[in-house]
Amino acid sequence: MQKLLSSKMAYQGTSLHVEDVDLKDVAKQFGTPCYVYSAAHIRGQLQELQQAFEAVLPKAHMPKFCYATKANSNINILKTIKDAGGHLEIVSEGELFRGLKAGFKGSDIVMTGIGKQDSEIRAALNAGIKQLNLEAIEELETVNAIAAELGLKAPVAFRLNPNIAAGGDDKIMTGRARDKFGLGPDRILEAYETAHKLPNLEVVGLSMHIGSQIHEVWLFRQAYGVMAEMVQTLRAEGYKVPRLDIGGGFGIAYQEEEPLPAKDIAEAVRDIIVPLDVEILMEPGRFVVGNCGVLLSEVINIKHTTDKSFLVCDFAMNDIMRPSLYNAWHSIVPVAKTNATDTTYDIVGPVCETGDTFARSRTLPQLEKGDLVAVQSAGAYCSSMASNYNSRPMAPEVLIDGDKATLIRRRQTFDDLIALEA
Ligand code: LLP
Repeated sequence: MQKLLSSKMAYQGTSLHVEDVDLKDVAKQFGTPCYVYSAAHIRGQLQELQQAFEAVLPKAHMPKFCYATKANSNINILKTIKDAGGHLEIVSEGELFRGLKAGFKGSDIVMTGIGKQDSEIRAALNAGIKQLNLEAIEELETVNAIAAELGLKAPVAFRLNPNIAAGGDDKIMTGRARDKFGLGPDRILEAYETAHKLPNLEVVGLSMHIGSQIHEVWLFRQAYGVMAEMVQTLRAEGYKVPRLDIGGGFGIAYQEEEPLPAKDIAEAVRDIIVPLDVEILMEPGRFVVGNCGVLLSEVINIKHTTDKSFLVCDFAMNDIMRPSLYNAWHSIVPVAKTNATDTTYDIVGPVCETGDTFARSRTLPQLEKGDLVAVQSAGAYCSSMASNYNSRPMAPEVLIDGDKATLIRRRQTFDDLIALEA
């Protein structure tokens, strides 16, 4: 049997529970496929970060944890994060809208983005955003002009690209010189100089995000080191660097591996960033929500061919795109506790392309049509990346808190599917 990846999930009696709620009952009440999240897991992850940092950092240098909204942007998840003391990182006006609806103030939110539209910059500045992380010198004139029009000074930071290859897949590495993100150390000084000539900008520091699902703390140390060197260079030129946003990317367990210990990250920050005497922001996404949830699904059919068996489930690549897009491995477990013998399956969904293969040759206890399964680690980058491909209505989301299950997004109807069409 696969390991359960959240301490808030366990088999109680014969059935898998999230906190005190039986997934069998969730399926009965809300149908499948359905995302099911644990609020306690989310609070626990934020607390783990907070405590790990408190243990090694002076109070004055405690980072603000700006949750990366893109990981899971349901406003009820955002509210849970807000109530636990989190701040927000956003990359679009849509995420800004969600953040404000969830009750965050603009001053709790930082905005990143390689392609910010004028309307997005305007909306962010109007909301009193804490900082805009800029990715190009070419953005400066635009931000300055919009800030002038609004009669304010835009707080900007420059995203540093340290040229480090880090991340769980080529597609989610963001800190190599060849990637579209940020400015290399050779351009930051020029960016600072240009910005200081523009009256409606206030340069507050640097930002960075090198990639996602990173397990090697030495890569963070290396990146923080490049940033620290940049700070020294800027200060030697007489510039102020009061704030550093050092990004997210902390790896979680998808299989048996140990997640990156928060303590290791905290020690890297203590050793490299704290001596710079700056305000510190961090942008964890996956670490906070990744293992808070499962995608609950029913087996539609088991199809046997001469050489294999296909487990055909009612979830598909439109609900969880990660295996198709990044060859990502997600654990899948039966909801009913079973002693059935192990069988090997190719696990697939109903979508009409071979790309809709969740796993090949996966060993699971033998299952039957109508059985329930739970895909683990479905809290991050699953519902937020979902689509309506094959005109499949988006699955509902249910938030568990203790013994309470709340529907935080209803299932789309067929009318929803065509609601925007002429
Ligand atoms: N900050 C910035 C500027 C980011 O671009 C990201 C993620 C984060 C923070 C949060 O990174 P995290 O702590 O979650 O690793 N869809 C992919 C992941 C893409 C991440 C994009 N940026 C996946 O499913 O693996």
